[in-house]
Amino acid sequence: MSTNTPVIELRNVDKSFGPIDVLHEISLKVRAGEVLCLLGDNGAGKSTLIKTLAGVHAPTRGEILVDGKPTTFDGPRDAQDQGIATVHQFGGTYPLMSIGRNFFLGMEPTKGFGPFKIFDRAKANKIAVEEVQKMGITRITDGDRLVGGLSGGERQSLAIARAVYFGARVLILDEPTAALGVKQAAHVLRIVNEAKKRGLAVIFITHQVMHAMTVGDHFAVLIRGAIAADFRKGEKTREEITDLMAGGETMADLEASIEGYMETHEGHPPKVATAD
Ligand SMILES: Nc1ncnc2c1ncn2[C@@H]1O[C@H](COP(=O)(O)OP(=O)(O)OP(=O)(O)O)[C@@H](O)[C@H]1O
Ligand SMILES: [Mg+2]
Repeated sequence: MSTNTPVIELRNVDKSFGPIDVLHEISLKVRAGEVLCLLGDNGAGKSTLIKTLAGVHAPTRGEILVDGKPTTFDGPRDAQDQGIATVHQFGGTYPLMSIGRNFFLGMEPTKGFGPFKIFDRAKANKIAVEEVQKMGITRITDGDRLVGGLSGGERQSLAIARAVYFGARVLILDEPTAALGVKQAAHVLRIVNEAKKRGLAVIFITHQVMHAMTVGDHFAVLIRGAIAADFRKGEKTREEITDLMAGGETMADLEASIEGYMETHEGHPPKVATAD
C-alpha cells in the first residue's frame, strides 16, 4: 500500500430504502492524516452516508474500499474491527459511568465472557486519564469521576481519545460540535487536529461552516443525497460554502424570498423554508 492510498474510499455508492433513493453516486476518499468535512443541510443524507461508512447500512450499489481493497461490512462491529470508529454527537458516553469504565466499555472481548469479567479498575482509570491527557485535555485527572459531570466537549474528547487508543484508523465524527458553546467546540476541534496529527483519516460532519474551515483539508457538500461540490482548503470562502449548503441559492436570495413571502402572507413565514 502506498502512503497515498486512501484509508477509506467510496466509489459510486447509492443507498435506497425500498423505493426511496437517499444517496446518489457518492464518491469520496480520505487519506491518513487528512480531515474531510462533510457539509450538508438537514435531510441531505449525512447520517445515511456515515451509517453506510460505519457498517450500519450496506450500500445498494457501489463500492467501499479500505486501504485500496474493496470490502463489505458485516455490521457495525465488523466496520469497527476494520478500524472505523464513529463518535456521535454526545460522545456516546454513559453519564452514570466512570471515565475509566466508559473508556473501556464495549472494547473488551465479549465473546463468552461477561463484559466486566476482566475489568481492572485502577489500570483502566490510569490508561483513560493518560490517553485523554495526551490529547491535550489536562483537566481530567481522576478516572473515577462520572462521565455525567464532564462538559460536552470533554465527553467528546473522551470518546475520541478512546477511538484513537483502540486503534481506529478512520474517525467519523457526527456533528461533534453542534451542541457545544464556543470554548467547548474549540476544545473538540483541537482534538480533531490531534487525531489528524496521529495519522487518522477523519470524517467530520457538520453544518457549522466555521468549524469545518478550522480543521478541514478538504470538503464535500451533500445536497439531496449527492455530492454537489468537492473542494480543498482555501479554494472557497466561507460565504461560498454557506451558499452551496443552501442548495446553490445565495443566502441573500433565500432571505429575500422568505421576506417576500411574508409580505404577501400577513407576516407569516413559509411553512417549510427549504432551498427546494
Ligand atoms: N431508513 C430510512 N428509510 C427511508 N428514508 C430514510 C431512511 N433513513 C433516512 N431516510 C431519508 O433520507 C434522507 C436523508 O436523511 P439523513 O438522516 O441521512 O439526513 P441528514 O443529512 O443526516 O439530516 P440531519 O442534518 O437532519 O441529521 C431524509 O429524507 C430521510 O427521510
Ligand atoms: Mg443526520
